[in-house]
Amino acid sequence: MYANPARKAVGEGADLAAFSPACAGAVRRFHSSFKEYKPTALTPLPGLAAELGLKDFLVKDESSRYGLKAFKVLGASYAVGRFLAARLGRDMSQVTRDELCSPEAREKIGDVTFVTTTDGNHGRGLAWTARELGYKAIVFMPKGSTSSRMESIRAEGASCTVTELNYDEAVRMTWALAQEKGYVMVQDTAWEGYTEIPTWISQGYMTLAQEALEQMRATGTMPTHCFLQAGVGSFASAVVGHLTAALGAEAPRFVIVEPHTANCIYRSAVAGDGKPRNVTGDLQTLMAGLACGEPNTVSWGILRDYASAYFSCPDYLAANGMRILAAPTGGDAPIVSGESGAVTTGLVHWLMRHPAARAQRDALGLGADSRVLVVSTEGDTAPEIYKGVVWGGAHPDVDGVF
Ligand SMILES: Cc1ncc(COP(=O)(O)O)c(C=O)c1O
Repeated sequence: MYANPARKAVGEGADLAAFSPACAGAVRRFHSSFKEYKPTALTPLPGLAAELGLKDFLVKDESSRYGLKAFKVLGASYAVGRFLAARLGRDMSQVTRDELCSPEAREKIGDVTFVTTTDGNHGRGLAWTARELGYKAIVFMPKGSTSSRMESIRAEGASCTVTELNYDEAVRMTWALAQEKGYVMVQDTAWEGYTEIPTWISQGYMTLAQEALEQMRATGTMPTHCFLQAGVGSFASAVVGHLTAALGAEAPRFVIVEPHTANCIYRSAVAGDGKPRNVTGDLQTLMAGLACGEPNTVSWGILRDYASAYFSCPDYLAANGMRILAAPTGGDAPIVSGESGAVTTGLVHWLMRHPAARAQRDALGLGADSRVLVVSTEGDTAPEIYKGVVWGGAHPDVDGVF
């Protein structure tokens, strides 16, 4: 764990204007114009909370989002919607899915091909959005991607190829292709000179944060701690940004969680000079959705300024989280949580139960008065891996310290 020595108060750190409650409302209005939209469940697990010695354990369960088993479609659909609205010269705050699909809009916009690189969920969300709105999508995946994730993307009508490149190299290849062919790159990470579409994608994720806030307000269970997993950091920065903008000093402590082999946000924080750091190599981890070595340069500023701590984790913690959520205790409801969705639960379990975690637990102020919020960002998006872990015991618990 690395505790942030320079956490900022609202107004003193990175600009949160793009994540304000007003922006979140506009994003959600657009999402609501899709017939598939409905808020996902915020599931309390009182049995798990009691077992871990916490007041509450709340899981925002994204396994049912738009029927796609992951939250990622929220970003792709909002970004594509905004892009098409701009092409029509329309204000995004008034555009709906049906307007974007109308023959008049189609004729005015003409043919557009969207292209992206994905570890699975973002590409599936983009493919779904492109099909839904009547456009073409081309999707690339990094080396080692599972065939079930590739097939899910093809099933949405997109072309999908697994490359021989790691995630960040594949992103660069896709960018070069988009420049050459005139495709529109819809990538869920930003770099210098490419920030507009990634910011729209990140804003799209606010819908889940806004739903969670409403659900917690309605049940009087506002969190003291919020654990968020990170690949490039777009998702975590949307939740940190929105909850901080909406709640100010009442915002929970945010803890950012990554796999050891792709811990670029953790390394950026540890470096301590405020600048992002990259991780290279194969980025191999069970947590395919988090296997990204280069932080989103816009998101990094938000995570640097408003997170309380950063963790770099072994794969078995993700597997433990999947098993804990699948086989609940004390009458809790089971939750199907995939590899990248469950690591935060695995980490909280380790923090509360492992004798060697005491100093870290205390530094985070985790105890009997704590209300913990996690987001299970995916269900069983690779069913064979899910079964291998939950039924087959793959990546067994190691009674370890990391
Ligand atoms: C299931 C899941 N959770 C979390 C993330 C992390 O999101 P980000 O790359 O924006 O940090 C991803 C990214 O693809 C994902 O697929």
